[in-house]
Amino acid sequence: MGVIEDFSRKFKGVTFPYPTMVAGGIVKTADHAQRLIAADTMFEWGSFTTDESLGNGGRDYFAAYNGHELDFTLNSIGLTNPGMKYAEQHGPELCLRARDSGLTFWINVSGQSVFDTVALIKRAIAAGFEIITVNGSCPNKADKANQGRAMPILCYDTDATSELFETLETEVGPTKAIILWKISAGMPQPTLEHNIRLVAKSSVMNGIVTCNTVPNGFDLLPDGKPAIQTDNGIIRGGVGGPAIFPIVLGHVHSSATILKDASKIVIGTGGVNSADRIRTMKRTGAFLTQMNSAFREAGEDPTFIRDDILRHLAEEV
Ligand SMILES: Cc1cc2nc3c(=O)[nH]c(=O)nc-3n(C[C@H](O)[C@H](O)[C@H](O)COP(=O)(O)O)c2cc1C
Repeated sequence: MGVIEDFSRKFKGVTFPYPTMVAGGIVKTADHAQRLIAADTMFEWGSFTTDESLGNGGRDYFAAYNGHELDFTLNSIGLTNPGMKYAEQHGPELCLRARDSGLTFWINVSGQSVFDTVALIKRAIAAGFEIITVNGSCPNKADKANQGRAMPILCYDTDATSELFETLETEVGPTKAIILWKISAGMPQPTLEHNIRLVAKSSVMNGIVTCNTVPNGFDLLPDGKPAIQTDNGIIRGGVGGPAIFPIVLGHVHSSATILKDASKIVIGTGGVNSADRIRTMKRTGAFLTQMNSAFREAGEDPTFIRDDILRHLAEEV
C-alpha cells in the first residue's frame, strides 16, 4: 500500500488516506464495517435513520448494463435500516478499530424532517463520530403543505433547508467533528446554489457531498414491467452510476467555485468508476471522491477499491 499513501490529505486535523471510498447506503451493519476496515477500505457507515426499518420489499434496486458496461442504477431507499440506536451501540468500538487501521470512521444519517435531522446530528456528535454526512436527499415528511402529494426532498425545499441551517447555528454551533451536507444530483442551479451558499456561511457544516442520486428515474424490464417494483407501490428510483457523472461534475464545479474561499471541502460522489474519473473529479475541485454503484456492481468486494481503482491511480500518475 506504500504508493497509495501518497494520496493522503488532511482536513480539520483528520487524515484521509485514500482519494476514494464507498459512499453511503451499502455498509450498514457492524460486521460489514469490520470487513471493510480489515481490507483497508474507507466507507460511510449508514445511512442510519432514527428508527429501525425493514425496507420496502420487492425489487428496490436495479442495474442497467450496456453490453458489459454499467450504464446506470436505480434504487428506492428500500434497504433494511438498523436505526440510530444500533449506530450508537456499535459506533465507538468501530471508530477505535478504524483508527487503529489508519482510517477515519464516517457515519451517514438520514432524517425525515428538519427536527429529526437536527436530532440525528446531535446524536452522531455525542456518540463521537469524527465525520458525519447529513443526507439531505430524503423526503421532508413534516412538510404539512404537501401532505398527500409527492413530498419535497429536503435539499430541494429551500425554506426547510434554510430552517435546518438556522437551527444548527443556534442548537449545535462549531464542533470538533467534520459535518457535511449531502445533496441530490440534478437540482436546478438556483436551488443548488442556495444549498451551497448555506454551507459556505455555516459554522456547523464543513463541506458538501455532491451528490446523492437524481430522483425519480424509471426503466422497464424486457417483460414490460417496471424495473423497480416494491411492496408499497414505488416504481421509480434515484438514478446513480456512470450515466450521472457529467451532472455530478457540474455540481462539484459549482460547489468548489462557491466554497473556494470558505475553507470548506467538496466530496465528489456519483458516477465514479475508474481512476480516470477520480482524477477528473479532483481536477474539478473535489477533495475526495466516493462510489456506490460501481462498488456494488463489483460484488461489494472489499478489495475492489484498493486493487482495481487505487492501484491504477497510483500507476497512472
Ligand atoms: C442501493 C443504494 C442505496 C443507497 N443508500 C443511500 C443511503 O442510505 N444514504 C445516502 O446518503 N446515499 C445513499 N445512496 C446514494 C449513494 O451513496 C450515492 O450518492 C449515489 O448512488 C451516487 O453514487 P454512484 O453513482 O457511485 O452510485 C444509495 C445508492 C444506492 C444505489
